[in-house]
Amino acid sequence: MDDIKILKGNIIYTKTKDEFEICEHGYLVCKDGKVEGIYQTLPFRLGGEPIEDHGDCLIIPGMTDLHIHAPQYTFRGTGMDLELLEWLETNTFPEEAKYKDVLYANEAYAKFAKNLKHSSTTRACVFGTIHRRSTLVLMDHLERSGLVTMVGKVNMDRNSPDELREGTQESAEETVEWMKDVQHKKYKNTLPILTPRFIPSCTDELLDMLKMVQMRYQIPVQSHLSENLSEIEWVKELCPYAEFYGDAYDHFGLFGADAPTVMAHCVYSTEEEIQRMKENGVYVVHCPESNENLSSGIAPVKRYLEEGLSVGLGSDVAGGSTENLFRAMAHAIQMSKMRWRLVDQKYPALKSEEAFYMATKGGGSFFGKVGSFEEGYEFDAVVLDDSRLESSRQMSVKDRLERMIYLADEREVKAKYVRGNKII
Ligand code: GUN
Ligand code: FE
Repeated sequence: MDDIKILKGNIIYTKTKDEFEICEHGYLVCKDGKVEGIYQTLPFRLGGEPIEDHGDCLIIPGMTDLHIHAPQYTFRGTGMDLELLEWLETNTFPEEAKYKDVLYANEAYAKFAKNLKHSSTTRACVFGTIHRRSTLVLMDHLERSGLVTMVGKVNMDRNSPDELREGTQESAEETVEWMKDVQHKKYKNTLPILTPRFIPSCTDELLDMLKMVQMRYQIPVQSHLSENLSEIEWVKELCPYAEFYGDAYDHFGLFGADAPTVMAHCVYSTEEEIQRMKENGVYVVHCPESNENLSSGIAPVKRYLEEGLSVGLGSDVAGGSTENLFRAMAHAIQMSKMRWRLVDQKYPALKSEEAFYMATKGGGSFFGKVGSFEEGYEFDAVVLDDSRLESSRQMSVKDRLERMIYLADEREVKAKYVRGNKII
């Protein structure tokens, strides 16, 4: 017997970045965890199946947070008066060092996983810390949440305090041990991703070893790229052989050439770096709120989209204050207006379609056929009840979605499906 689920409501999604597809009071059919189709009137053959009727609610694809730091969730919304490198030293590294304690990690990660589960996010690329056991605890919590995630044990063997620095050999060996642990755990929804923190945290020797790990286990890669001007200068000093920041990763085969790779930020990518990202299929993660809070700058996302790069959105908690990706969409649009006004009139501001696309299909594609309701896509769906935001005015479905971008949070999330499974 096929496993059929039918949701009824106002269905809205993006096939392309330029346009919403809308089916008002339509039927969204899931078959064996995949989208079977969208219908204005239900086909006769499906007449006998039960229907979950969500009335006037909106139904959208699940969102993908392509960049979030789980251990930083504890201090989100605080300590934003510094730039990246000082912020890492003052706020981030001392907090991450606490995750050596598995009990501390267990408590913190339980809250993180619970809140992520109740957000509009169905998929995420998540940073842990350098600690292998605590990262497994994070993966256990995420597996239980029903979300589909890629999680990384972070690698760091230089330029951090003693409590948050591994030996070079140790970092590589612990990563291999972690991979073995992960294989043993047989997670269904929680995948490992190689996570060298960023170039200033990883010696050349370590990156060489991590490439061996990547090849041995065939895993994807996540890191940070061209986020902040002082960081970029520092990378030039640390890697004089590199033509540009991303070339330092590419030097070690960790820049998309033979594994799916996501790089957060890309605020200051040079022409050469953009070209290499295109050639290697590197994903850009735009993290607008983080870029504001850490005074990093305004990434040229509109250009990345127009040039056909793969772009998704990241909350980058705790550079960003919230896991709510509606906020990330609004910040992306608002930042793009400031960029157009103050920096570069060549590219107009992002439209709501483009912000929505990045949060759903754009980032979702890193997980495969995810983030759309086209036939064959994995059935990740979020039902949104906007009655809390109601005005007495008549509004179109598109206007209601736009209002959600600016005003919605987890209170609007009424039901959520991941790969066809109802998780809330
Ligand atoms: N670069 C290296 N580590 C980090 C981090 O934790 N957050 C951000 N935003 N950038 C980084
Ligand atoms: Fe980050």
